[in-house]
Amino acid sequence: MIKNCLQPLRHWRAMIATSLTASLLAVTAYAHAAKAADASVAATPPMGWNSWNHFAEKIDDATVRAQADAMVASGMRDAGYVYINIDDTWEGERDAQGNIRSNAKFPDMKALADYVHSKGLKLGIYSSPGPKTCAGFEGSYGHEEQDARTYAAWGIDYLKYDLCSYGETLEKVDPFEARRLLRAAYEKMHQALKKAGRPIVYSLCEYGYDSVWHWGAEVGANAWRTTGDITDTYDRMSEIGFQQAGLSKFAGPGHWNDPDMLEIGNGGMKPEEYRTHISLWALLAAPLLAGNDLTKMTPETIALLTNRDIIAIDQDKLGKQGDRVYSEGELETWMKPMADGSKIVALFNRHDVQNGIIVDFRKLGFKHPVKAHDIWANKDLGTMPEKVELLLPGHDVILLRVTEK
Ligand code: GLA
Repeated sequence: MIKNCLQPLRHWRAMIATSLTASLLAVTAYAHAAKAADASVAATPPMGWNSWNHFAEKIDDATVRAQADAMVASGMRDAGYVYINIDDTWEGERDAQGNIRSNAKFPDMKALADYVHSKGLKLGIYSSPGPKTCAGFEGSYGHEEQDARTYAAWGIDYLKYDLCSYGETLEKVDPFEARRLLRAAYEKMHQALKKAGRPIVYSLCEYGYDSVWHWGAEVGANAWRTTGDITDTYDRMSEIGFQQAGLSKFAGPGHWNDPDMLEIGNGGMKPEEYRTHISLWALLAAPLLAGNDLTKMTPETIALLTNRDIIAIDQDKLGKQGDRVYSEGELETWMKPMADGSKIVALFNRHDVQNGIIVDFRKLGFKHPVKAHDIWANKDLGTMPEKVELLLPGHDVILLRVTEK
């Protein structure tokens, strides 16, 4: 059974929380650092697929090729999905020179990258700054430059770099040193990737520790996980998603908050719950990494994942993450500004029963009468009254595209 990535870090996290003086020093030092993330590879949030949520360790070359084929055949590639990301358990042993090799499940990583590229897609891979990955495979510790060179030679386009066993190193030092080491470990791989010379999306996975959104971009990250792992349940998905409130100011073109991969199509949630999932992730300008088996999708799953209006919200050029305006118990109102001046108003009902939700356009900051388009109903609602009550089924969402007249 695979170890929960959060276990080794409990102690370390507690130490960090009690070290405010040290934190202030560290924050001051970073406040002056220039943004270092390479915006050219992730001007909008990365879109693609990742093996972990559905396949976990049961992933191999043939399965990855089949996912690439299905990404094309399903229309997902044409909708904007690009990355085919192999998560943990591809790693083999190092050779006598210390070069990382893939294990028997992946006989030829370069050939696999060539195949994925031939489909007009890109290939992603996974490693850890620690000696071991979360599933206990070989990490990059002490081999960062060598691994970055290998990834570049294979034709890798995306790296998810997962803290895992490096957390144990952080537990052995004082909290101030732990913060320094954490950032240094991620900066080290950033420099290694730069030196290797291939544009590679750099995605941090350290579960949001040490408020990574404050410094992720400074160590070259194009995205950083803000939470622990998602599961295919409404409770966990909504816990993670709504927990993103307040983080919008830290994201932008080239550097994105990542509330973890999608569960759409894995079967654990109801249609309205998956609709909430993708609506919230689009509103958050989150990476859209499908986490299901693309070879076995229902028409409903394909429709959700390829909805052009939803993808347009996520991929909007302005690159502004949406945020909560207010919550009234289980009823949440969020907004996202769009490049064309319109705003997405998102109404969420976290109750499991239907509720009325009041939309007061003045209170949302609109000064003039507004027109609204209901995105999921695909219906123009015309000019709206200043205040309107809408009925929202349990665990469902209404997305309005609102234009001020
Ligand atoms: C951690 C990450 C997951 C996944 C696994 C792989 O738990 O958060 O997304 O990468 O490791 O072992």
